[in-house]
Amino acid sequence: MIIAVLGANGQLGNELQVLAKSYPDDSFYFTDIDEVNITQKESFENYIRKIQPDILINAAAFTAVDKAESDAEKAMQVNAKAVEIIASLSDTYHYFLIHVSTDYVFDGTHYKPYHELDVPHPVSIYGKTKLAGEQAIKGLLSRAIIIRTSWLYSSFGNNFVKTMLKLSKERSQLSVVFDQIGTPTYAADLADAILKICPQTQKIKNVEIYHYANEGVCSWYDLAKEIMYATASSCEIIPIETKDYPTAATRPHYSVLNKQKIKTDFGIRIPHWKDSLFHCLNQMNVLKK
Ligand SMILES: NC(=O)c1ccc[n+]([C@@H]2O[C@H](COP(=O)([O-])OP(=O)(O)OC[C@H]3O[C@@H](n4cnc5c(N)ncnc54)[C@H](OP(=O)(O)O)[C@@H]3O)[C@@H](O)[C@H]2O)c1
Repeated sequence: MIIAVLGANGQLGNELQVLAKSYPDDSFYFTDIDEVNITQKESFENYIRKIQPDILINAAAFTAVDKAESDAEKAMQVNAKAVEIIASLSDTYHYFLIHVSTDYVFDGTHYKPYHELDVPHPVSIYGKTKLAGEQAIKGLLSRAIIIRTSWLYSSFGNNFVKTMLKLSKERSQLSVVFDQIGTPTYAADLADAILKICPQTQKIKNVEIYHYANEGVCSWYDLAKEIMYATASSCEIIPIETKDYPTAATRPHYSVLNKQKIKTDFGIRIPHWKDSLFHCLNQMNVLKK
């Protein structure tokens, strides 16, 4: 198969690059905004014409959740308009689209893990633009996969885990919210799941949404505590409420995803978030000895 990956320099894109080496029978093409700006149809179409992929993985996005509140236009361009371009050319160039979306399409008022069929209701610009991207795919394509994930981190890029590691070296105490509940997702695990899905896309007959996160549930506070424990940091983590940590974007209080569908349909085994966190910290060489 020929597999093209957009957003190759991001967290997920980088993890896909690492794992692609284990798939020598497939040809991978990785690109990012320096080569192809997906908001520009001509640039994207030229690339697709050249590569002729069987599968296109869209890991590109505008992911700065707070910045999106003040730059809604750009967030909409990348997260929705570009997705419309990508979807609109899928039939012409015969590629199967695997698109990545977010738990932030939900408002967080649930008390049990979100199912794929639960009605989205985003409470941030970022969430709204990502939902618009999903809707563009549903409106234009008869077959595709949309994978919603949550709280992504990796040894690549910027994320909560790396921020905690950095700040814990600079400060003796850190305040972290305990009333936002979800599940961290190691981007390497998501990349692994996506590459296991690629040879199984023939069985997809509709636009199918799937939820993927690591197993288990925690708050950002719990995650920060676990990072300190795993790295033997003496930095104290103080639990605080969201109201005491104002941010530009509203985040869902609860965004745990139900992952049964992806496990059943593709035979995917998902690691627990603590195991994956330790794995990532080990990769980064910061795990306590
Ligand atoms: N990060 C999370 O916590 C999280 C949570 C849930 C879902 N997701 C979703 O998971 C997917 C992967 O996220 P991630 O954290 O790996 O993202 P990321 O690290 O922010 O990477 C996204 C990549 O897309 C590139 N990009 C942005 N605009 C582009 C454009 N116009 N044309 C081409 N490339 C462009 C970015 O380049 P620049 O850096 O130069 O802009 C970046 O390299 C996204 O769909 C995201 O919405 C992420």
